[in-house]
Amino acid sequence: MSDGSDLRKIDAKAAPLSAHLGAVGMPGVTAWIGLLDIGQPKPGETVVVAAASGAVGSVVGQLAKAKGCRAVGIAGGKAKCDYVMNELGFDACVDHKAPNLFERLSAAVPQGIDVYFENVGGEILDMVLRLLNPFARIPLCGLISGYNATEPYGVKFIHSLLVNRAKLQGFIVSDHLERWPTALGELAAMVREGKLKYRETIAEGIENAPKAFIGLLKGENFGKQLVKLA
Ligand SMILES: NC(=O)c1ccc[n+]([C@@H]2O[C@H](COP(=O)([O-])OP(=O)(O)OC[C@H]3O[C@@H](n4cnc5c(N)ncnc54)[C@H](OP(=O)(O)O)[C@@H]3O)[C@@H](O)[C@H]2O)c1
Repeated sequence: MSDGSDLRKIDAKAAPLSAHLGAVGMPGVTAWIGLLDIGQPKPGETVVVAAASGAVGSVVGQLAKAKGCRAVGIAGGKAKCDYVMNELGFDACVDHKAPNLFERLSAAVPQGIDVYFENVGGEILDMVLRLLNPFARIPLCGLISGYNATEPYGVKFIHSLLVNRAKLQGFIVSDHLERWPTALGELAAMVREGKLKYRETIAEGIENAPKAFIGLLKGENFGKQLVKLA
C-alpha cells in the first residue's frame, strides 16, 4: 500500500498535462537514466535506439543529439522513420519491416555502434551485436518483441559482448527515484525550449484500453500511447 511518498505533484506549467505521462514523465525519465547514467554517451559516438518513434526511444535519440552524438533509430515503417529523421532530428533511421535490415543498419552506422539503447530484443539485438565497437554500452530497457512470444528468443551473437568488452545492463526506472527530479527538470526545460519533441496516440475511453495495449505490441501506436478516460 502506498504511504503517499511515491506520489508526484505535477507542475502544470512545466509542460502540457499529457506530456507528464510521456516525455516529461516515466518514459522520458527511463530514456534519461538509461542513456545518460548507463549508456554514458560521449560527443562523436554513435547511439542506436530501437522503437525510435515511441515514448522512450524518441527521447533517447533527442538526448543523444543534445550530447553531440550520431543518433540512429530503428522503427517500423517509412512514416515512423520519416518522422524520426525529419521531426526529431535523428541522423538516420532504419525501417525494420523492409528487406535487408542488416545491410541497411550497417550502412547507417559507418563508425560502428558505441551505445545501443535496447527496447526490442530478438533478431534486432543480434544484428546490433555484430556492429558493436570495443567498450560499447547497452542499456537494456525493454524486450518488447518477446512480450507476446510463446518461446524466448535465443541470442546468437553474445560473444560480441566478450570480444568487445561491452557492458550490457538491465535497469528498471523505479529503482532510481533519486534521479527523477533532475531528469524531469531537464526534460521539462528541453520541451519548453522546443528541443524535445514528442507525439501521442490517444485511445478514447477505458473500453478501448485493451485494444490500445495489444496495438502497442504490434507497433500500431505512433508515439506515446495514452487512454483518455472522459
Ligand atoms: N526498464 C524500464 O524501467 C522501462 C520503463 C518504460 C518502458 N520500458 C520498455 O521500453 C520499451 C519502449 O516502451 P514505450 O513505452 O516507449 O513503447 P513505444 O515505443 O511507445 O511502443 C512500442 C513500440 O515497440 C515497437 N515494437 C513492438 N513490437 C515489436 C516487435 N516485435 N519488433 C520490433 N519492434 C516492436 C513498435 O514500434 P515500431 O512500429 O517502430 O516497430 C511499437 O510502437 C518497451 O520495451 C517497454 O517495456 C522499460
